[in-house]
Amino acid sequence: LFGQCGNRAIMKTAPVIARATLADASVIAEIYAHHVLHGTATFEFVPPDVDEISARISKIQGSGWPWLVARDAAGEIVGYAYVGQMAPRPAYRFACETSIYLRPDMLGRGIGGALLAALLAAAEAAGFRQAVALISGDHPASVALHAKAGFVRAGQVKSVGRKQGQWLDLLYMQRPLGPGDTAAPDAEPD
Ligand SMILES: CC(C)(COP(=O)(O)OP(=O)(O)OC[C@H]1O[C@@H](n2cnc3c(N)ncnc32)[C@H](O)[C@@H]1OP(=O)(O)O)[C@@H](O)C(=O)NCCC(=O)NCCS
Repeated sequence: LFGQCGNRAIMKTAPVIARATLADASVIAEIYAHHVLHGTATFEFVPPDVDEISARISKIQGSGWPWLVARDAAGEIVGYAYVGQMAPRPAYRFACETSIYLRPDMLGRGIGGALLAALLAAAEAAGFRQAVALISGDHPASVALHAKAGFVRAGQVKSVGRKQGQWLDLLYMQRPLGPGDTAAPDAEPD
């Protein structure tokens, strides 16, 4: 199941993707903490603890939205992804924002692509019509990952973040889900 590429073991099988449970919260917290402390993909500075991650998972899933984990052949969590409504006000209810984070030793093996494909299918099933990714610093792997999943560049705001001594731009990428904006939703509020 695992091959060698230089000194690095590489996963050759597709990950198994499943709905996250609260039992996964500690591994998710560990993965996210790495990106909070060492990366610029997230604008958080202090890693949330396991209770906070559990609360976030409960809030997303309790709203009927997907929070997924990817596991390797041994059953270890190698990444996770979720969507939430892109902003709280009700007119945003058909637009979701995607988030995806991999264990740092698991980047560049196709896991992100598999996880994002499953996430988009689940977001569509949850009724969302647009998926939006906010990518900081024009991160090449993230841009490539989302472009491959059908996202297009929708605009960029400059220098809205400051982390690790750098000003960070935010690139918005977007793709429709299901019928997108070609049809009205089944039900409108009164
Ligand atoms: C962004 C992230 C989720 C991508 O997942 P991944 O498993 O590494 O991505 P994949 O291996 O599926 O690669 C997706 C595509 O990006 C390309 N890619 C990967 N790294 C790249 C790089 N440094 N430069 C250019 N392209 C790159 C791959 O070649 C692949 O395209 P291909 O299938 O046509 O070859 C992962 O790198 C990650 O967790 N990064 C840190 C957190 C983060 O940035 N999250 C996203 C917030 S929006």
